[in-house]
Amino acid sequence: SQEINEFTPTSAADVEQFRLRFLVSKGIVKSLFDEFKSVSPEEKRTLGKVLNDFKQLAELKFSEAQEQFAASAAKAERTADDLTLPGVGFQLGSRHPLSLVRKEIVEIFKKLGFIVAEGPEIEDDWHNFSALNFPPEHPARDMQDTFFVEKKDGNDIALRTHTSSVQVRLMEMGKPPFRAIMPGRVYRNEAISARAHCFFHQVEGLYVDEGVSFADLKQTLYHFVQELYGEGTKVRFRPSYFPFTEPSAEMDISCTICKGEGCQLCKYSGWVEILGCGMVDPNVLENCGIDSKKYTGFAFGMGIERITNLKYEIRDLRLFSENDVRFLSQFETEI
Ligand code: PHE
Repeated sequence: SQEINEFTPTSAADVEQFRLRFLVSKGIVKSLFDEFKSVSPEEKRTLGKVLNDFKQLAELKFSEAQEQFAASAAKAERTADDLTLPGVGFQLGSRHPLSLVRKEIVEIFKKLGFIVAEGPEIEDDWHNFSALNFPPEHPARDMQDTFFVEKKDGNDIALRTHTSSVQVRLMEMGKPPFRAIMPGRVYRNEAISARAHCFFHQVEGLYVDEGVSFADLKQTLYHFVQELYGEGTKVRFRPSYFPFTEPSAEMDISCTICKGEGCQLCKYSGWVEILGCGMVDPNVLENCGIDSKKYTGFAFGMGIERITNLKYEIRDLRLFSENDVRFLSQFETEI
């Protein structure tokens, strides 16, 4: 017992020595039990307990020592591995498709001299609606579309419904010329389905300077589409309405899937709508402290989800927010 108590192993080899000395079938413990068989019944009573204690002590000491050296034993085993075997592979994460496409959009506009502007996702009524020329009774202010955070007399706080709010913040802060794009997340109170979600991502753009015309708007967006979807992608503009632009338009591109031939995605029309745009309404310029006699501007806004769907033939919006690796791992990895 004393020897066992004093046993202080310094290596895994010591532990093995201990095991061979005490615990194997020809070891001390086993041989003492063998001897025990031949002692008298009276002696057995006292000796039995002593022997059992001894056995337990040896086993306990061994398992403690074994634990202590388990790590180094594992290491020793590893050095004995075949070093020519290939290493253990590990999987890199990949970029989210919306991040990939946002980056692509930003890069295209950066080359045209647009800077990136950002603003808060929780906005007040002024920046999200009033400054943008939304009449007080406009349906977009309705509880149906907007997530209100707080009702405040005349200046409610809400989750922004578009990044046009950043245009207002930008114009309020400085002097023309302004040439910026505003990527960001926006929120609308819609039932979640394959085609709608309660939040999505936008890139809006704004260019304000002396003499900016609708021709500038068309050429900028035409160039953008050629860069993003490839040369030869056709565009067309349809008249539309937004409170903050006049005139307003929606831009369609020739369907990226069927190249204008007609398919399920474009409902056999050959065209898909990708953005809203127009000349900044003079009221908006004035609301932001800009002289609308001197300056004109254009603005546009697109949903990144829509742009991404067309690029990768994705048919269900919900895939973007479900974090399913089977979907996400199909996209580019960046190191
Ligand atoms: N803000 C509009 C939207 O959310 C898009 C838009 C931006 C339209 C700028 C015209 C000009 O749908």
